[in-house]
Amino acid sequence: MTFAGKRYDFRDQAGDYAQLAEELAGLLQGEKDFVANAANTSALIFDALPDLNWAGFYFLRQDELVVGPFQGKPACVRIALGKGVCGTAAVERKTIIVPDVHAFPGHIACDGASRSEIVVPLLKGQQLVGVLDLDSPRLARFNEGDARGLERLASVFLDSVRPEDIASARAEDIASVPSEDIA
Ligand code: SME
Repeated sequence: MTFAGKRYDFRDQAGDYAQLAEELAGLLQGEKDFVANAANTSALIFDALPDLNWAGFYFLRQDELVVGPFQGKPACVRIALGKGVCGTAAVERKTIIVPDVHAFPGHIACDGASRSEIVVPLLKGQQLVGVLDLDSPRLARFNEGDARGLERLASVFLDSVRPEDIASARAEDIASVPSEDIA
């Protein structure tokens, strides 16, 4: 497969997000593996949206968020619920736009280049499964149009996976497999 992503300039923000949502649905079609789909979702977003330095997922593992597939510099692995922008969006179950990360109390700095951020909670029905997080090196990069557009992309991703797959991939389940059972 050769990926030739469409180019978007976001002058028609709603229209471009709608097309991007269709492109994402096509990219994920026929695949249910949540790691594969999260990886391609973050890659598509990072490739399509201008002025990003990080785009990716944190998934809920018991009572904390653990980093998932992403594009950008290596990031903080675990974020407690209620901490940082990610943990706050997860607890409040609503999209948070941070125009200036230095003005957000408790912001967790992973990449010093980040100046603004948006975090979308991933809700499958009532079940919180994680967050989608985007960082930009530009102040006030994200607006309400981005919030609605990214919520739509998050929903396309969620429609492509089974929430129990995300919820069941717990580190302790993997750690509890006796080593002789691992080929
Ligand atoms: N800034 C986030 C942490 C994650 S990184 O930006 C990738 C936060 O405050 O939750």
